[in-house]
Amino acid sequence: MTMDRLTRVPGLLYGGDWNPEQWPEQVWAEDVKLMAEAGVNLVTVGVFSWARIQPDAHGWDFGWLDRLLDLVHRHGVAVDLATATASPPAWLVRAHPELLPVTADGIRLEFGSRQHYCPSSPAYREAAVRLTRALAERYRHHPALALWHIHNEYGDHVQECFCPASAADFRRWLRERHGTVEELNRSWGTAFWSQHYNSFEQIEPPRTAPGPVNPTQLLDWRRFCSDALLALHRAEKAVLDEVSPGVPVTTNFMSMLKALDYWEWSRHEDLVSDDAYPDPADPRAHVNAALNYDLMRSLKGGRPWLLMEQAPSAVSWRPVNVPKPPDLHRLWSLQALARGADGVLHFQWRASVAGAEKFHSAMLPHRGTAARGWQQTVRLGAELRRLGEIAGSRLRGQAAVLLDWDSWWALELDDHPSARMRWLDLLRPWYAALHERGITVDFVPPTVEPEGYPLLLAPNLYLLDTATADRLTRYVRAGGRLVCGPFSGIADRHDHIHPGGHPGPLRELLGIVVDEHWPIPDGTTTTVRLDGIKADGTGPTGTEPDAAGPTGTEPDRTELHAEHWSEWIETEGAETLARYGSGALTGRPAVTRHRYGAGSAWYLSCHLGADVGRVLDLPLAEAGLSAELPGLPPGVEATRRHAADGTDYLFLLNHGPAERRVRLRTPGTALLTGTDLLTGTPTGDALTLAPLGAAVLRIPAAQERA
Ligand code: GAL
Repeated sequence: MTMDRLTRVPGLLYGGDWNPEQWPEQVWAEDVKLMAEAGVNLVTVGVFSWARIQPDAHGWDFGWLDRLLDLVHRHGVAVDLATATASPPAWLVRAHPELLPVTADGIRLEFGSRQHYCPSSPAYREAAVRLTRALAERYRHHPALALWHIHNEYGDHVQECFCPASAADFRRWLRERHGTVEELNRSWGTAFWSQHYNSFEQIEPPRTAPGPVNPTQLLDWRRFCSDALLALHRAEKAVLDEVSPGVPVTTNFMSMLKALDYWEWSRHEDLVSDDAYPDPADPRAHVNAALNYDLMRSLKGGRPWLLMEQAPSAVSWRPVNVPKPPDLHRLWSLQALARGADGVLHFQWRASVAGAEKFHSAMLPHRGTAARGWQQTVRLGAELRRLGEIAGSRLRGQAAVLLDWDSWWALELDDHPSARMRWLDLLRPWYAALHERGITVDFVPPTVEPEGYPLLLAPNLYLLDTATADRLTRYVRAGGRLVCGPFSGIADRHDHIHPGGHPGPLRELLGIVVDEHWPIPDGTTTTVRLDGIKADGTGPTGTEPDAAGPTGTEPDRTELHAEHWSEWIETEGAETLARYGSGALTGRPAVTRHRYGAGSAWYLSCHLGADVGRVLDLPLAEAGLSAELPGLPPGVEATRRHAADGTDYLFLLNHGPAERRVRLRTPGTALLTGTDLLTGTPTGDALTLAPLGAAVLRIPAAQERA
């Protein structure tokens, strides 16, 4: 089931997790009254209610939930009803102790927290499906029901289990994937270290072993663990689809989580929802939040998504839990909308007085309605109502970033030339450079043709099968620009090195070959000289300037710094744009570009950290990409959502501590006149944003055509 509006609830969604089982029923009456005051229109109920709904093996207690749903419905609030399966009750655990998860060291984790289940446990699965069915049958027609919320944050505390049931499930999965044990032996390269298997029965999960474990076994294990949790999700989803068709279903994702291949997962969601907890103590947190939100939008090809959880102020699980200063929560909520969300929900509605999260902030803090946090809750609700018309509008990235979980898992296996090559550490500086330049990106999976984007960025593609390499080659041949980061094209899907030299199936496209990887010791850097490139981002000195760029400026003498990683490469048709300026590789190519077909393929052989933007400026210029709103002051983020009727919504967010003046002109210098929906004021040719201030301009369709 797919839809442009997330649920049947009109406008933007606003609310949070509500855990009424922690409170006497008299408190509920106050809750719903205050929800109405705050403009809450959706609450998530039942996430941790299993023990209350099913008090023992023999009976159900739905009475309280019936009363609760009726109550919220009478007050005009809709419900995102959880299947309550994330925290199995004590009676179930004691009846089936084997459902508790086991670590790689063989320790069985105890009851007393949450998410204490083995993903492959038949007892857990059966009980979870039974509970889901009971809830679906009882509430499928309840008028408050707007959304089903499966489980909670799969992979949060438990991502893998090494018990005998998991071992059996792993063997079943391996049989399905490899067919025969001979095939598995080939895939896992078991000729190495005498690891040969005679039958699937001899195989165990990669438990703690004396030394390095077979890397393909570990890679298959990562794939299996994502699939094992997904199988649980799918079992619940199937019940909901069967019993409660027409009501959308989601599970809350955890932003860019390594453990779960969200490309695969999102195929089984009716809508994508995310939990995001940027750290108010981190002045750059909004950049990483933008990255996560761009991923959430991309998972369903640009459809609106839902911010399912965020903290109204401090969380309780960091070593130091810094609150959000006034206006920051509002700004970050608007940021999610700016990047495609159609609602902002929270953890949680009313602050708990007991349990591990009693110091976590809430929409209704311990101090009650006198608290600053409550004023903030009411204000945000009112503002979201003013923004209701943006629901359903979309934004599309100007460029794309290739993200492949398989490659992420394989990149971070042990015994590589450098343990410092981590996917997020490679991706983040690239993303930050684009964010700083006001370029919005979509993420794309490796399995589709990246058509329609003038620029495709691949900060790392350690694992690359030939089908994906062929897609990339076709993309460049047809006129696309591919920018590929270091240590790419190394291994096939079995994590075997591609023969014939790195970057394997990208060698012809990139026009280079890697002779040797050259990791840079911790705490030191290698310089990279851009003296092959002109300051305006056009071709190397001494060559004909690129047709796409201006000409006649002085070569740039900037020195960049590579950290953690460099490579000895030789060109095979590519031109050299930057060279190493220090160390053993001095004078050798560091950055190259290969004209190929109608496009170009760029290669960065080193990890440039924060300096990478200076190199990315070159393909950005070649692709003709620039910020949608030129001349944005530092710290101001701008995105534009487009509605089907041609109306645009321009979000302007000031993440900095100083007031900023923003000129409202497009790159073509057309004036963008509109109305700030937050204040109702028409804008002129510029506006001033307060520190942590924001504006959301409605720009009518007619002007868009002008
Ligand atoms: C989320 C979780 C919530 C709550 C919240 C606190 O990860 O889904 O149940 O624990 O964190 O920040």
